[in-house]
Amino acid sequence: MDHNYQDYLKTAVEVARKAGEMVKESYYVDKSVCTKESFADLVTVTDQAVEKMIIDSLTQKYPTHKFIGEESVSEGKKCDWTDDPTWIIDPIDGTANFVHSISNNCVCIGLSVNRKIVVGVVYLPITDQMYTAVKGQGAFCNDKRISVSKVSDLKNAMVYTEAGNSRQPEAVLTKIENMKNIVFASHGIRCLGSAAVNMCMIAQGSGDAYIEYGIHIWDIAASGIIVEEAGGVLMDPSGSEVDFLSRGVLCASTPGVAAGISKIIKPVEFERD
Ligand code: IPD
Repeated sequence: MDHNYQDYLKTAVEVARKAGEMVKESYYVDKSVCTKESFADLVTVTDQAVEKMIIDSLTQKYPTHKFIGEESVSEGKKCDWTDDPTWIIDPIDGTANFVHSISNNCVCIGLSVNRKIVVGVVYLPITDQMYTAVKGQGAFCNDKRISVSKVSDLKNAMVYTEAGNSRQPEAVLTKIENMKNIVFASHGIRCLGSAAVNMCMIAQGSGDAYIEYGIHIWDIAASGIIVEEAGGVLMDPSGSEVDFLSRGVLCASTPGVAAGISKIIKPVEFERD
């Protein structure tokens, strides 16, 4: 079957903008918040409404395509990733930021074909930044080409990471230990509160690496291709091939920075998606 990736991208951008309008409308008012796997793992009615709108809009245009959406999975739908064209959606990545009125939140829409990500759209509605990539065609922010930094040594790198939203003591303590090791080996760490925003920072050269355990496929599918198309590397934190369902990711401007991080961190185990 022939795929028109430019058409997929155009549609995803339109739908992401519509989703962004919904996020903006509820950003400045009191949010109705519920919790999922821990008291720090948040969901709002906006996350749910945005995901429904995205899935309904894409289904209308591409009735045979499949979906993996953060809120559908947390409501019990199986995270079934097949070779079929599959839209991978995080309606609001950085929900805790959204809840606390912090502008680092974004709509993530990725598309996989044969389990390879071919299109990625990450839209930050509050700051109106639209990051896009199509396999083999480069990465862009608001239609301007972006690329990763040239930093190749961890000691000259700025590294993004997160404490995440699990509150299992062992997971939190290992993450803090990893952060400590990264601080001693680099220019420092930054935590923006959204996996996809962190990864877009790497894609545009505002920092050199991002590492996190505990993320899900919907946090990294769209932003992963944006990093790769900007010239960066995307892998498992161990240094092996990226596994989108494994709950861990490492991306970097260069293999040198990634290798420096892999060497000094300990794995944190989470149940696979
Ligand atoms: C979360 C954010 C956060 C990261 C968590 C993610 P959500 O996604 O990306 O930065 O630390 O691991 O689950 O729940 O806001 O979509």
